Amino acid sequence: MTAKEVRQSFLDFFKSKDHKIVTSSPVVPYGDPTLLFTNAGMNQFKDVFLDIGTRDYKRAADTQKCIRVSGKHNDLEEVGVDTYHHTFFEMLGNWSFGDYYKEEAIAWAWELLTDVWKLPKDRLYATVFKTDDEAYEIWKKYIPEDRIQRFGEKDNFWEMGETGPCGPCSEIHFDRTPDKSGGKLVNAGTPDVIEIWNLVFIQYNRLPNGELEPLRSKHVDTGMGFERIVAVIQNKKSNYDTDVFSPIINQIEQLAGKKYPEDLANPVGIAMRVMADH
Ligand code: ALA
Repeated sequence: MTAKEVRQSFLDFFKSKDHKIVTSSPVVPYGDPTLLFTNAGMNQFKDVFLDIGTRDYKRAADTQKCIRVSGKHNDLEEVGVDTYHHTFFEMLGNWSFGDYYKEEAIAWAWELLTDVWKLPKDRLYATVFKTDDEAYEIWKKYIPEDRIQRFGEKDNFWEMGETGPCGPCSEIHFDRTPDKSGGKLVNAGTPDVIEIWNLVFIQYNRLPNGELEPLRSKHVDTGMGFERIVAVIQNKKSNYDTDVFSPIINQIEQLAGKKYPEDLANPVGIAMRVMADH
């Protein structure tokens, strides 16, 4: 599948599950002094989660243009040095505004990954927040228990910024090790096992004084790194080897008169990836 087909199949899948397909909001958010740049697909729905705004639909999906160079979500230092973080990227997401919850969010994520995109089930791991037995039990329907791992706040409690909507999350990780031995590498910061999709169960508002205020309704907020899932589907080890980035890398090679090096530690390759990302 080409990147374009991957994007479209994500949107088609959630359309078939009665989601309204919406457009990406601008990368500079409207009227939100807590954020410099849009850092996640849920930003444009913050008012709905906080119960101060409404939409005429209860389910939505989109591909959101995000910039993560400042604040709580800042990947600037990773870019180019590794092959799977970006300053500017697309986040594929689906949302429930007080409608479906964990059961459907997990079932549909699994269906899209394994049924539609045919990713090998034995390369997928799920993580849940340490106390989230509900998500743990749901995952047991799809994968063996030794592939479900519990983590704490750092990895499995998602917040958009210092304040705002937040909640426990369940992530799906893809194992790219040759012998499928990546269980110990989940959340270890290696390209061999990467997070591909984050399912957040929004149920609190983080207040300026640090307290968590329970929200009136429970919501779903998911985010999947488009460039990463394209790399996984196209069986590439690096996002820069996909059809999203290879035309840019080729152009940089021509302009620089240098070949893109295979060795990932080579500074020329790092510089080329930084340029391609920017
Ligand atoms: N908002 C969640 C994230 O950005 C899905 O990971």
